[in-house]
Amino acid sequence: DTGHFTYDVGYGSTASTKSAITYIDGDQGVLLYRGYPIEQLAEKSNFLEVAYLLLNGELPKQDEFAAFENQITHHTMMHESLKNFFQGFHHDAHPMAMLAAAVASLSAFYHDDLDVEDPADRKLAAIRLIAKMPTIAAACYRYSIGWPFRYPRNNLEYVDRFLHMMFEVPSEPLTMSPVAAKALDLLFILHADHEQNASTSTVRLVGSTGANPYASIAAGITALWGPAHGGANEAVLKMLEEIGTPDKVETAVKRAKDKNDSFRLMGFGHRVYKNFDPRAKIIREMCHKVLAELGVNDPLLDVAMKLEEAALKDEYFVERKLYPNVDFYSGIIYKALGIPTEMFTVMFAIARTAGWISHWIEQHETPGSRIGRPRQIYTGAGVRDYLASGNR
Ligand code: SDX
Repeated sequence: DTGHFTYDVGYGSTASTKSAITYIDGDQGVLLYRGYPIEQLAEKSNFLEVAYLLLNGELPKQDEFAAFENQITHHTMMHESLKNFFQGFHHDAHPMAMLAAAVASLSAFYHDDLDVEDPADRKLAAIRLIAKMPTIAAACYRYSIGWPFRYPRNNLEYVDRFLHMMFEVPSEPLTMSPVAAKALDLLFILHADHEQNASTSTVRLVGSTGANPYASIAAGITALWGPAHGGANEAVLKMLEEIGTPDKVETAVKRAKDKNDSFRLMGFGHRVYKNFDPRAKIIREMCHKVLAELGVNDPLLDVAMKLEEAALKDEYFVERKLYPNVDFYSGIIYKALGIPTEMFTVMFAIARTAGWISHWIEQHETPGSRIGRPRQIYTGAGVRDYLASGNR
């Protein structure tokens, strides 16, 4: 190519890859994982089954699911040496910083199985990542509050096991609410994949260089952290707390429209959905249900509902097709489950790991893949001669 290329800020109209994993119709509000509508998966499936579906392309038969669950269960432990990494962090380190570092360090533990050309090694990395992510995530949380880490209890199911590692206190039996486990499982399903979003595209770009899966996923984690992407769930809660009461909503909406003010309505807008985010619909409904079932009366929900109502009838938001996205209500649910605000994006990362690694594998299985290498429009100085420092 001799330099004829398209200028497309933020890749608004550039397909970077072909993919058979997830389909989105942004105008109709449709989201399919491997052809299955998100609404059906949310109602009938569970996160681990969805992870199998994303990875393998088909829903598992009973024996296939049992074998998959068994494999996952056998890889939930974190290497004892990995725990030493946490000791190096200051106690108030952001859990996303610890998560990204810990996941990147997995490549130092499993370098015998890092042949990206070997399908068996690729599969093993996928199993390890999906299995270990909740263990590492819970360790990030417990380290931040100075609690000892918990070993994964392999007699529990995926989400229960995670809740146990997060919240179990020595000598006190943990009473796990089935409502909490169900809600978390559903949030994990809804967050599991979303085609070529910024973090998945990052995983693919890093993966295109031949980098190992742990390094590629660690890059995805750092991309997810930003408030315009997965960090929005944390930002939404902070925003709702800042607004405080429903009577302050009007001022917040006014500020969000002001181009001289950097304030934006977090949890609003989406690059692809220009009608509604089907995940937000499901989460909104679930939010009311979970709060009622757990007996939580959170005044932030009133602020959120008022904000949604005000924005949806405001000309600015209507004209720009800005609707609540997946992260608008998820934070309120996480909060009701007792998950601290700084952990919200970590929760997103646990779920998205299934999508990231499915894309990384698809990339390596696709013949003709090549290194990602965007071009640029140069805006710098023309050619000029070097001057000795005394002559500048
Ligand atoms: C996720 O891509 C994915 O699939 C991501 C995701 C996934 O599952 O992987 O769905 C997860 O990242 C959800 C998005 C979470 N982010 C937020 O909630 C942060 C707030 N939203 C925005 O920053 C923004 O809407 C984005 C990042 C989500 C989308 O950005 P775009 O597509 O680049 O849109 P844009 O910034 O060009 O906005 C278009 C217009 C602009 O106004 P004008 O210049 O045309 O006058 O809408 C305005 C923007 O200023 N706008 C907002 C707004 N979002 C866009 N104005 C006020 N508040 C907002 N939230």
